[in-house]
Amino acid sequence: MPLVTTKEMFEKAYKGGYAVGAFNVNNMEIIQGIVDAAKETNAPLILQVSAGARKYANPIYLRKLVEAAVEDTGLDIALHLDHGDSFEICKQCIDDGFTSVMIDGSALPYEENVALTKKVVEYAHERGVVVEAELGKLAGVEDEVKVDAKDATYTDPDQAVDFVKRTGVDSLAIAIGTSHGAYKFSGEPQLDYERLEKITNLLPDFPLVLHGASTVIPEFVEMCNKYGGDIPGAQGVPEPMLKKAASFGVCKINIDTDLRLAMTGAIRKLLVERPAEFDPRKYLGEGRTAIKDMVKHKIVNVLGCDGKL
Ligand code: G3H
Ligand code: 13P
Ligand code: ZN
Repeated sequence: MPLVTTKEMFEKAYKGGYAVGAFNVNNMEIIQGIVDAAKETNAPLILQVSAGARKYANPIYLRKLVEAAVEDTGLDIALHLDHGDSFEICKQCIDDGFTSVMIDGSALPYEENVALTKKVVEYAHERGVVVEAELGKLAGVEDEVKVDAKDATYTDPDQAVDFVKRTGVDSLAIAIGTSHGAYKFSGEPQLDYERLEKITNLLPDFPLVLHGASTVIPEFVEMCNKYGGDIPGAQGVPEPMLKKAASFGVCKINIDTDLRLAMTGAIRKLLVERPAEFDPRKYLGEGRTAIKDMVKHKIVNVLGCDGKL
């Protein structure tokens, strides 16, 4: 059973009004925790690797670990490059056997984003690989997106139609108010559903992607705080808001921060409660279990992709 692309996953998700989870992976325990959760819930799965993860783990290790997960479980898993910022990194991943790549040209002027995305799409499609691109800019709290500035940073619906048509891209990450990391909103969490609905209507049957979609689960923030340093003011996207996004055209929901918090919280707790413990299998194993439980919760209660294999 080889790695799969996201094509069929997204077609089913779109029709079913649910989303597939795309989880960032950096080491064996993270991969195993996520994969165990998907196995127990019969869920399709996207494992994604950032440039930072490739640098940390050495690309071949992560790829082989993901291949091992497929061989071990027989699950439908797509291996995806997260936030590729050049043609070269996308090409490398495609040549290495990834089934999906993201070319993130969102920081470029529009026409340059179109040209770069098109170039990656051509290379990828000739090799049976699918491509995600990004249009619009995800804001950080520090960017304080004001209502009148939204049009400058959030995805423009008409431009999204033009972009998809001209690039032939397979899915599109949109900016509607989410942001990466643990600090997403300074006030009340808010997503621009009106914009999302417009994009969905203008691009029927086309899969949209939501980045920066961690909920920043309070249980793990509290655990990190109680057993170590403070993570003040952390705030993520509430779960009902993600469910609502999935009921529109959002088929892929990206999660990294929640994995980091779950793993770190569990490890901090174990090491504080058992200071004499120095077997990495004990504390990494605890982190792996925390990830598994958290991902199961997401799959069943937020994404709705359980039983959709
Ligand atoms: O969106 C970015 C992901 O959270 C990956 O983060 O670049 O630190 O691996 P990273
Ligand atoms: P979070 O930081 O909200 O987990 O988002 C991750 C992401 O978008 C990876 O591309
Ligand atoms: Zn992202």
